[in-house]
Amino acid sequence: MIVNGVRQTVTIDNRTSLLDLLREHLDLTGTKKGCDAGACGACTVQVDGRRVNACLTLAVRLEGAEVTTIEGLAQSEDELHPLQQAFIDQDAFQCGYCTPGQIMSGVGCIEEGHTGSPGEIREWMSGNICRCGCYVKIVKAVQQAAH
Ligand code: FES
Repeated sequence: MIVNGVRQTVTIDNRTSLLDLLREHLDLTGTKKGCDAGACGACTVQVDGRRVNACLTLAVRLEGAEVTTIEGLAQSEDELHPLQQAFIDQDAFQCGYCTPGQIMSGVGCIEEGHTGSPGEIREWMSGNICRCGCYVKIVKAVQQAAH
């Protein structure tokens, strides 16, 4: 598969999740493991341009796929993705554990055009839990990046 623009070939157990592949085999630990059961959204990444929970995705099914993680979102070392910058500008995190998943999901929300209102953003990001309760600022960050 291609991960953040780099072709990767790994030999893995066929039960390995994409999340464990990223974190344990490719050292891409920006993608977080919260529940490991599809309930929290901390592991959100993009596969072929669509949001997925990496904990629920079997890595062996992704042969040839393009995977983007939080590490691959910025265009360069010097310039953050607009939504990463918006999270900083809006102070949209506290502990930060859910942030990579929130940002990857927010990018999907923007690309899919679900940013018409705060309620629409909340609905389309409802799979991403923030235990610190930063939802108001997360929505503001998505709105900033969408405009
Ligand atoms: Fe995948 Fe929680 S770790 S949804």
